[in-house]
Amino acid sequence: MSLKEKFEAAGQGQVFEFFESLDGEQKRALESQLEQVDLNELERLNRELVFGGDKGAAMDFSKLKPAPYIPLPSDKTKAPEWAEAKKIGEEAIRAGRVAAFVVAGGQGTRLGFDAPKGLFKVTPVKHKSLFQVFAEKILSASRKYGVSIPWVIMTSHINDAATRAFFEENNFFGLKKEDVIFFKQGLMPAVDTNGKIILENKGKIAMTPDGHGGCLRGMVRSGAAAELKRRGIDCISYFQVDNPLINIIDPYFIGFHIKGGSEMSSKMIPKAYPLEKVGHFCMYDGKLTVVEYSDLPKEYQEKIGANGRLEFIAGSVAIHVIDRNFVERLGGGSESALPFHRADKKIPYVGADGSVVKPEKPNGIKFEMFVFDALPVAANPVIIEGARGDEFSPVKNAEGVDSPLTCKNDQKKQAARWLKRAGEKVETNPGGVPGFDMEISPLFATNEEDFVSNWGALKDKPKIENKLYIQ
Ligand code: UD1
Repeated sequence: MSLKEKFEAAGQGQVFEFFESLDGEQKRALESQLEQVDLNELERLNRELVFGGDKGAAMDFSKLKPAPYIPLPSDKTKAPEWAEAKKIGEEAIRAGRVAAFVVAGGQGTRLGFDAPKGLFKVTPVKHKSLFQVFAEKILSASRKYGVSIPWVIMTSHINDAATRAFFEENNFFGLKKEDVIFFKQGLMPAVDTNGKIILENKGKIAMTPDGHGGCLRGMVRSGAAAELKRRGIDCISYFQVDNPLINIIDPYFIGFHIKGGSEMSSKMIPKAYPLEKVGHFCMYDGKLTVVEYSDLPKEYQEKIGANGRLEFIAGSVAIHVIDRNFVERLGGGSESALPFHRADKKIPYVGADGSVVKPEKPNGIKFEMFVFDALPVAANPVIIEGARGDEFSPVKNAEGVDSPLTCKNDQKKQAARWLKRAGEKVETNPGGVPGFDMEISPLFATNEEDFVSNWGALKDKPKIENKLYIQ
């Protein structure tokens, strides 16, 4: 069967509508794009998500229970279970079993920033980019543990070239080039409300990134998983590109993951307020599941439990440790092991006269996978509680919550808190934010324990004043 016949048989013949008007090169480009489309998978997605309504709607919320987690003690250095986890985690890091992994397929569009989000500048004094902050955290841990920690970066077709160029221009921020492994995430065709693949222009179909859950198969298909295996890595520390507070190489978390024999572990942070836009860790039919804020009815998001706290308090902040074998198992099959979700979007399309139309309202559907959908099939998933002030302050919106301003304040708050712990006096407002800008380089310390000890050992301590930069 020719390519055209295959698409016609699948009811997708419209993609050839303008084929005869294309020149040879354009025809070949369209054909090579079409060859990548899995028509069987698309037929299934249309059936389940376009014509069948979203699966999320079928969930019986009354069966949801809050997921259990390991609570954060008031002083983790003194809690025996945490001290044991730290020891196990540190041994694994020193043995070179740990890699860092960021999903960075997104652009900074919501921030009004037309570039890969990782290029966005976030720190209060030195205005470092997100990528620089992460690179320095990884470099700092590599030095501390005397091991090269590889960093895998998932880009998308939209930002791959610009991301790689940024690392080249900045000499990989001190990391060894061979320790930074890029791969591009996969693409899925976007369809209209009748399930028909959208033609973006006469010679191109609309393809959109397959969601952060696409990282599992992307890692396998690109060879990144095999490269990690070759290096003896089995623990992958997963984080999102929007969160500069992330404690990337956290021995406690890695230790609990290993100790629990877990295939995928997660950090939870108690929600800051009932309707915070995060996922919720829940148990459903005996399985650990993340239910997005957009899927969980308001009454459940706000429900108060027997202890007077929010019943579904465990916020998913997209911080995981994933076992490499698990990635290979889930990402290795021909069919995706993760479910797809539908997202309704405005997708430019070619009109009957061949000109491109930019729609005002959503006209199309894109298909995305979410990495947390791997949790229900992971063996022994472990959840530990994290401290918001030391782990999570994403930049998502130009203004208001989760904005560059709130994120800078959270970084300043963390610096002031660590200085106070080290015995210094720092003037702060009642919210803990110092009245001037200060910043701690990850190369000085990436956690409070190390900060206190490194600060104590400093002979010439810098003055605590505006623009303080501790390096
Ligand atoms: C996400 C989570 C939410 C969590 C919150 C924490 C989802 C659906 N929701 O929300 O549960 O509480 O973060 O901050 O994920 N990305 C790719 N490729 C893609 C899509 C996304 O690499 O195809 C990356 C982005 O670059 C970003 C991350 O995934 O690093 C999150 O994507 P985003 O769409 O910003 O998720 P949120 O809605 O903020």
